[in-house]
Order: sequence, then structure tokens, then C-alpha cells
Amino acid sequence: MKIFTKKAPLEAYLSKEKLNGKSIGFTPTMGALHEGHLSLIATAQKNSDLVVVSIFVNPTQFDKEEDLINYPKTFETDKRYLENISCDVLFYPDVAEIYKNGIRSESFNFDGLDHKMEGQFRKGHFNGVGTIVKTLFQIVNPDTAYFGQKDFQQLQIIKKMVKNHNLNLEIEGCPIFREKDGLAMSSRNIRLEEKHRIAAPFIYQTLKEAQHQFLKDTPNEVSLRVTEQFKNHPLLELEYFTIAEEETLETIKTKENNKKYRAFIAVFAGNIRLIDNIKLKHS
Ligand code: PAF
Repeated sequence: MKIFTKKAPLEAYLSKEKLNGKSIGFTPTMGALHEGHLSLIATAQKNSDLVVVSIFVNPTQFDKEEDLINYPKTFETDKRYLENISCDVLFYPDVAEIYKNGIRSESFNFDGLDHKMEGQFRKGHFNGVGTIVKTLFQIVNPDTAYFGQKDFQQLQIIKKMVKNHNLNLEIEGCPIFREKDGLAMSSRNIRLEEKHRIAAPFIYQTLKEAQHQFLKDTPNEVSLRVTEQFKNHPLLELEYFTIAEEETLETIKTKENNKKYRAFIAVFAGNIRLIDNIKLKHS
């Protein structure tokens, strides 16, 4: 595996490979790699000639300094994982290499997708994501980039950015990877206290029940039940639960036949914030 910490030599290397006719798949990450990331990389490997993974803990997407400081950093283990799965290229820049003109976000128009759900609780988060993802796309110039559906709102926002900025690449959303007990894989899971880790599968159980209930009940009835279930939970605190349309991320009041919906949830387990979502079927 080739490792680059500077963008100029990476750009030179990748443009040569592109001239040689190679297609490039790209998986941007913030490290602390888990099987969810590895599945994104495996999909990229299946679909492209050359796969680039980036590891960069992006400061502009953290709304809380404490969260940035505590974000797990496991570079040596990550590097070994990537070597074991024969990843072609790892890009591991430092903050100064990416933010040459100061650590700040560009301001994006995501047509309102960023005002909902995560956007209401994490101010500036999606401008930070847009800034780093666009920068990385400019450096790597991939044919396809792969993102997990766990961060479904992020995925839709990145698709929107690609469309609005006429970026020349495909975005592929990949299924959520779960632990055996249903907890969605996340780099944050390793920071959970044992009691919270034991309690956390309740989130997915609740989503599964909501999925079932949505077949017969209204979105509001489903939301009320979920809120009720979390009310008395001793360890998990619900931040939001909403049922929204996949494209617009608009919370819905009624179901329409030809629309696609998902239930979205954010929960605090101690001071670790976990998000998850599930596809809903109806009629
Ligand atoms: O999903 C993530 O890990 C990050 O938000 C991303 C896309 C790598 C940007 O920093």
C-alpha cells in the first residue's frame, strides 16, 4: 500500500494512473476503522481498478471541541487493516496540509437538507463535511466515492453537493453494518462505557419495532410510541426520532404510495451520541 501525507505527490500519482486508464474508487474516513468501513472499501475494490482511502479527522465538522479531542485515533491499527485487505493507496494528511488558508468551512447551499435532523443539533457540521469532502474529491478525483447509509443525511447532502457543484463523479451509498446485537457500527462505539454498550442495541430494536408499526399506524403514532419507550430508559436519552422522506429529508405526517421513507434517530448513551436509521415499507 502506498501512503501519502501530501496532496501534490498523491495528485501526481493518481493522474498518472488515470491516464493509464485506471478507474479510481474512493472511501473517505476519519479513521478508527471498523467492518462498516471495510465493507465500503470492499465494494470500492469490486468496482474500481485502484482504491484510495483517506484518514483525516476533520476539525471543521465538529461542533464541540471536546468531541474532536476525544475522537478515537487508531492510525497504526487502521494502517494494518488496510494493508491486510490490500488497499492500494492511503492518504493521511495533517490539518495544515488540508487547511492551508486557515481552519474554516466553506458555506454551502444544500437546498435545506442541512437544516433538518443532525443540522438542528450540530451547528455548522454539514458545512464542515462539505468542505472536507469537496477538498478530498478535488485531490483524489475519483470516479466513484463510497459512503455508509448510517449517515444517511450526510450521504444525501454529499449527493446534493456533487449535483449543485457539477462534480464529475458517482456517489454510492452502502448498507449499514451492524454488530451481532444490532448496534450500528460506528467509530464512536469504542468510547461507550460498558453499561451503555450493553444498553445501546435498544436503539435498533426500537427502529425495528417502528418499522413494523409503520405498516399500519401513522407517522405520528409511531413517533409517539418511540418517544414513550425512551422516556423511562435509565441509560439512553433520545435526542430526536423522526420519519422523513428519503430525498427531501422532510418529516412526514401522512404516507404517500410512491414515496420512500426512513426513520431516523439520535440518542445519547452517556456522553456518546449515536445515530441510526432504518428503511420503512408501507402499503
Ligand atoms: O463519515 C465520515 O466519516 C466523515 O463525515 C467524512 C465523510 C469522512 C468526512 O470527514
